Amino acid sequence: MKILTATAELTPIAQAGGLGDVAAFLPRELEKMGHNAIIVLPKYRAIDIEKWGFKNTHKTLVVQMGYWNEYALLWEGTLPNSTVKVYLVENNEYFDRAGIYGDPIEFSDNDRRFIFFSKAVFEVCKALGYSPDIIHAHDYHTAFTLAFLKEFYQNDPMFSHTAGVYTIHNLAYQGKFNPDTALLYSGIPLSKFQPYSPYEYYGMVNAMKVGIMMADKITTVSPTYSQEIRWSYFGEGLDGVINSRAADFIGILNGIDYDEWNPESDLNISAHYSIGEFDKKSYNKHKLLLDYGLSDYDDMNLPLISMVTRLTDQKGVDLVIAKLEELLSQHNFRFFLLGSGNYNYENYFRYLSHRFPKNALNYIGYNAALSHQVIAASDFFLMPSRFEPCGLTQMYSLRYGTIPIARQTGGIADSVFEYDYNNQSGNGFTFWQYHPDDMAYAISRALSIYNNQPHWNKIRENAMNHNLSATTTATKYLEVYQWAINSQSNA
Ligand code: ADP
Ligand code: GLC
Repeated sequence: MKILTATAELTPIAQAGGLGDVAAFLPRELEKMGHNAIIVLPKYRAIDIEKWGFKNTHKTLVVQMGYWNEYALLWEGTLPNSTVKVYLVENNEYFDRAGIYGDPIEFSDNDRRFIFFSKAVFEVCKALGYSPDIIHAHDYHTAFTLAFLKEFYQNDPMFSHTAGVYTIHNLAYQGKFNPDTALLYSGIPLSKFQPYSPYEYYGMVNAMKVGIMMADKITTVSPTYSQEIRWSYFGEGLDGVINSRAADFIGILNGIDYDEWNPESDLNISAHYSIGEFDKKSYNKHKLLLDYGLSDYDDMNLPLISMVTRLTDQKGVDLVIAKLEELLSQHNFRFFLLGSGNYNYENYFRYLSHRFPKNALNYIGYNAALSHQVIAASDFFLMPSRFEPCGLTQMYSLRYGTIPIARQTGGIADSVFEYDYNNQSGNGFTFWQYHPDDMAYAISRALSIYNNQPHWNKIRENAMNHNLSATTTATKYLEVYQWAINSQSNA
């Protein structure tokens, strides 16, 4: 099968969150299974062309925007640890600037940037003579590819057999655009902007809705989130739209890249370990604490709880703020935060480190190598998310024998299960109600297992044995691709 992935992020080339990880592992797995996968990504300023070995193809793409043409240059490279081809679309007006989306406020021309990119995807195919069986678009940024496929390209022999699949990674980011401009850029006639149509959403164009309505099949990144978003509490105003496509919609739990996230071979960490080798794991804690200002005169054996996260409301930071000082005063443990985002949240963690210089450590910023080190070094991983479509960091933690303390929502509910002392099953500590006391109780349960053998080793073995394989995930996507092709050819 020929599968084109259209995405705004790709790990390790350009990443802001988990979307990049999924856009990389899926094509990589599909290719291992014998399929032909390519990825199309904007050429952002931050992409290190030399490091990743991209070459200018000197091919020019002519991209029709509404009634005028714009232009792009095509670059070619390879996804690391694979032979999957990655194509970068260069247009400096749109992508030669700091950041991917604009942070913390999204760029005001994101409609134009991503509509341009979504159109360019078809020109990439034409320039390469690549006739895809599937166009797989991820999140609102590339949602318009699915509209363009149906509105403009399905009559072109190159795309007449192509089916569109859309994956929702996070309903909180929808791309709500001014219809006058969004329709103009996309070339979709204003006459199609009618109530209940794919293009109209309370007087706006909503790219997320466009993706959901125009795809042949829709997926999201965990079975639990696929159920949650049918209800208004999680639906972000799109629960009705999702329910209208319920027959074509399923949740598939993300997997993780076992080569990139492997404690036996991870080049970012100082001591490698496999299941049961927990003494070796603790070298990583020692090293991290030394790196962050502690010395061997300090007690290096205290339990270490960490977070690695975008600092947004989604991640439950307000629960942490409500409770962490009290917990650090009452219990003997250390806390490490690696994160960036909301300035108030960043400042809270800076304050916390002043108040508890030896017990509350932080690195404010984005640092991929450090994320591996922190996850390997920690005993527990805190993830009190308000909502979590899938969540990858709790899965990376499981793989590294780092025990999640996490709220039961979305993909967390599909991957983290409360430890049961009687039958020694389970891989974490969980809470359901979004309340600081419920989180605090889960943290205290977690801390009490730390010196309690054989349970402390058992729970870590359970975590490391938990199957999170990306191959399982990719197999399920292949079934969706086939389902999309079948329904498209029956249409
Ligand atoms: P989300 O996509 O909502 O941010 P996920 O758990 O799915 O949540 O994915 C987050 C990804 O971003 C993980 O790969 C995680 O390691 C990475 N990440 C988040 N914050 C940072 C940071 N400050 N430094 C390095 N990596 C980070
Ligand atoms: C989104 C979600 C996160 C998910 C990731 C990858 O960013 O917030 O929960 O794991 O996408 O699918």
